Amino acid sequence: MKKVLIATEKPFAPVAVKKIQKVFSQPGDDFGLEWLENYTQREVFLNAVTDAHALIVRSDIVDANLLDQASELKIIVRAGAGYDNIDIDAATARKVVVMNTPGQNSNAVAELTIGLAILGIREMFSGKSGGELFGRTLGLHGFGYVARNVFRIAQALGMKVIVFTRYSKGAAAATGLKVTKTLEQLYERSDIVSIHVPARGEHIGSASYDILKHLKDDAILINTSRKEVVNEPDLIRIMEEKPRIKYMSDIKPDTADLFTQRFSGRCFFTPKKAGAQTAEANLRAGVAAAKQIVAFFKKGDVTWQVNKP
Ligand code: 3PG
Repeated sequence: MKKVLIATEKPFAPVAVKKIQKVFSQPGDDFGLEWLENYTQREVFLNAVTDAHALIVRSDIVDANLLDQASELKIIVRAGAGYDNIDIDAATARKVVVMNTPGQNSNAVAELTIGLAILGIREMFSGKSGGELFGRTLGLHGFGYVARNVFRIAQALGMKVIVFTRYSKGAAAATGLKVTKTLEQLYERSDIVSIHVPARGEHIGSASYDILKHLKDDAILINTSRKEVVNEPDLIRIMEEKPRIKYMSDIKPDTADLFTQRFSGRCFFTPKKAGAQTAEANLRAGVAAAKQIVAFFKKGDVTWQVNKP
């Protein structure tokens, strides 16, 4: 029997839980599921992983310490896109396969992005006269799965969309999108900038003062990617220098109290990462993760492995 631990501090929607159970209960298969949802103590996670052969997580932290407890572990699947919560080097060193489920929750994040844009441009629904998205320029910082969905929705709203991307220039050009030469140009030309890059490599801290200073005086900056991509002290600096800039995010800043006190009416953030928190996204990402584990044990399928040797 292969034990699969599903450790999600932020639980999947019930519909996803049901479907995941079904994937692991096919005739002839021998998987034993353990659910660890809403846990608050790391110890509980550390204890549960000791005899697990497979692990499904969301943003749950999988570090070297946890991997040291998991002597039976063969595979970790991050039900979602960003795997910056997993210590990839530590997993590779222990010969543990790591996978993600790219694209499965991108529409949910894209819809939240547009929601944040509307909330911002409508002055937080405070009653103050706001603006409209129609005709405004949206700048996409990055062009992965989420950004592509944001582009689709923004087009339907009558927005002009531009993008800066290093790695997906061809894909962006193929859609007819205007690709700016530099990130500075993207920030300078956009009414709303939305960040869609992972917390890896050169993207970390890429929204720094040198870039943020190019924002228009009344720009809205949306971050549904990762906290690490935005240099928080630099963001505070630019929001002080340009007192009409707004910051909208589903990631709580490190200095959340400072933001709410100093930038009242100009910032919004959810207490927990919320972009992928829909039944549909949970279903797609959760079921994809479950199927990838089954395929790994039955056929040695490593299609979505992110730590290929
Ligand atoms: C992702 O990387 O897929 C998203 O940030 C979703 O994260 P979550 O599973 O913690 O909601």
